[in-house]
Amino acid sequence: MMEDAARIEGLLRAMTLEEKVGQLTMIRADFDAAGSTLLAPKLADIAAGRAGSVLDLRGASAILLGQKAAVENSRLKIPLLFTLDVLHGYRTIFPVPLGEAAAFEPDLWTRTARAAAVEAAADGIALTYAPMLDVARDPRWGRIVESAGEDPFVTARFAEAKVKGFQTDDLARSDAVAATAKHFAGYAAVNAGREYASADFSQRTLEEVYLPPFAASVNAGVAAIMPAFIELAGVPLTAHRALLTGVLRKRFGFDGVLVSDFFAVAELIKHGVAADAAEAAALALNAGVDIDMASGTYTEGLPEALARGLVRIETIDAAVRRVLALKLALGLFEKPYARGEGALAPATIEAYRALAREAARQSVVLLQNNGALPLPAQTGRLAVIGPLADAPGEMLGPWRAAGEASETVSFLAGVETAFPQATVIHANGGDIPAALEAARASDAVLLFLGETANMSGEANSRARPVIPEAQRALAEAVFALGKPVIVTLTSGRPLVAPWLFEKAHAVLAAWFLGSEAGNALGDILSGAAAPGGKLPLSWPFDAGQIPVYYGERPTGRPADPENHDTSKYLDVPNAPQFPFGHGLTYTRFDYTEPRASVATLRPGEILTVEVDIANIGDVAGEETVYLFIRDPLASVTRPLLELKAFTRIKALPGERVTARFHLTTDAFSFPDADGKPRLEPGEIEILTGPGAASSLLKRCRVHIVTNE
Ligand code: GLC
Repeated sequence: MMEDAARIEGLLRAMTLEEKVGQLTMIRADFDAAGSTLLAPKLADIAAGRAGSVLDLRGASAILLGQKAAVENSRLKIPLLFTLDVLHGYRTIFPVPLGEAAAFEPDLWTRTARAAAVEAAADGIALTYAPMLDVARDPRWGRIVESAGEDPFVTARFAEAKVKGFQTDDLARSDAVAATAKHFAGYAAVNAGREYASADFSQRTLEEVYLPPFAASVNAGVAAIMPAFIELAGVPLTAHRALLTGVLRKRFGFDGVLVSDFFAVAELIKHGVAADAAEAAALALNAGVDIDMASGTYTEGLPEALARGLVRIETIDAAVRRVLALKLALGLFEKPYARGEGALAPATIEAYRALAREAARQSVVLLQNNGALPLPAQTGRLAVIGPLADAPGEMLGPWRAAGEASETVSFLAGVETAFPQATVIHANGGDIPAALEAARASDAVLLFLGETANMSGEANSRARPVIPEAQRALAEAVFALGKPVIVTLTSGRPLVAPWLFEKAHAVLAAWFLGSEAGNALGDILSGAAAPGGKLPLSWPFDAGQIPVYYGERPTGRPADPENHDTSKYLDVPNAPQFPFGHGLTYTRFDYTEPRASVATLRPGEILTVEVDIANIGDVAGEETVYLFIRDPLASVTRPLLELKAFTRIKALPGERVTARFHLTTDAFSFPDADGKPRLEPGEIEILTGPGAASSLLKRCRVHIVTNE
């Protein structure tokens, strides 16, 4: 609005260079035994206008103290931006993003972000570093846990849903939190899955895979974007002017704030593209980075860079304008203390716990089941075994914000609640003989294996994404007893374990399920709720297949068991253990062929595709239905499958439901060499079904006619 612009210009005119650089500087909270705090030197920096935002300060009282230092003690009284990573919950913790993605339910994604925002804003947080939009196809990379999986279309829907949930349509609301789309772009393609390593991929992969989710976040009105730590083909993203300014600002029209990753501006020196702080600050600012997170390089280097002529004051002013505009949009000038009003009503907390249980139920993926699940209600003796059985803290995952283990329901507690009549015998599995004793005394064994939270997330890449050896020894010993064994895998990534899938009666992928982990799992084990999650990424059969994903491009020599000289391995299959979209439930569904509303489609016309899904089992169930396309002949090769729509349906036993999809010709275009959408004439296959497994897909065709 005009008054906002006038207010910003008035502030800019009044600001000293130090105060301008201060607005571009984010300081990190101090830490003491009690947790995060702001010690006197930082409070003094704030009062002197040398900081414009704060990272990692938690607690309404600590944030209030920091805000007062700015609003009441500084010369220009510019409020601070308090920021934190709230990825999947603040105090009530929801499933990690990779788990929530398995629900394929945008409305759920929005609702959990909304709840997280309300809780975080109540403590004074105004900006979160979420959603993470890195399309991830390498389970060796620890941060795959933060992603929505391997597919750009799913990640783009995830982006829209999360931005809406965090921000609402009014950022000035005291319970709205600015979202940050991160990490721009292609961070998940780090070399060999090793954290912080370089990435180097084609312009086409950038356009088709890594940019669409960020474009979606910008279209959804995301307030901030964070460049990735890494370098892409020789240019660190923090200094990548072509992508930050050329693509994000000019091509996508992003007018929000670009905030660097932690110390990433200073790290331009280690990348070898800046000799000192002045050069690093100049590279980042000229590329488009507005805020330097925690490295102090803007403070140290921008005045010097200005003096050397490496940056212009106009560029500094433009960055300050964007930061001030964000603070105005958040309502921080009018009501700097509106966020941080503290405790939420008990009914609100209770509702968020129920939401956490619902989200966790929808995130669990039933990978295999020989009929062992759901467990009969009269099951008399249950052995609950494994290091993840009674580990509530591990359920919160690697980004737990203000989540508390003491407020988390463990799997053991959940089983005891779900089976009140059963005798539950617990053994953590460290002592295998004791665990076997428990198993021998049971009617069925519930085995809880997988990763602890510190094996997943940032800086936790694993060259061998497997179940730890000690757990395998425990599992093999339990399998040898011949009891029904139901395995629940806690993890931040698919775990390569063909040996497990050969022997377990049932396996559930539980990811890190959050505060209500135990209750959600108990609902599923008992059949009170049917599992409805599906894999948002391919589950490798062997680490040597990585990256394995459904959207591969064709080869001139497609795998042919009858022909040696075709695309395959000597030692492992091409197919993953489980494909994208795999996930069982307690009933079965039958699909008709898809029906296209027209046989020919012209630019601007709408295609409607219908497919009927019948519940042919004897219990109610939910099913995610996917619509892919295949363009068999084009001016460039097209992926074997491209996801263009999905929807989750519910059906009672015997019920037939019609899934209806509406596609514009945008769904059939692809980026040309400059990233512009290109629609070509020709026949396109439409494929619908329960996932990317080609044997389960049914198809129809549509003919695209263009003016070419
Ligand atoms: C971390 C992460 C980033 C996070 C930031 C602030 O290193 O890379 O995702 O938002 O620092 O915690």
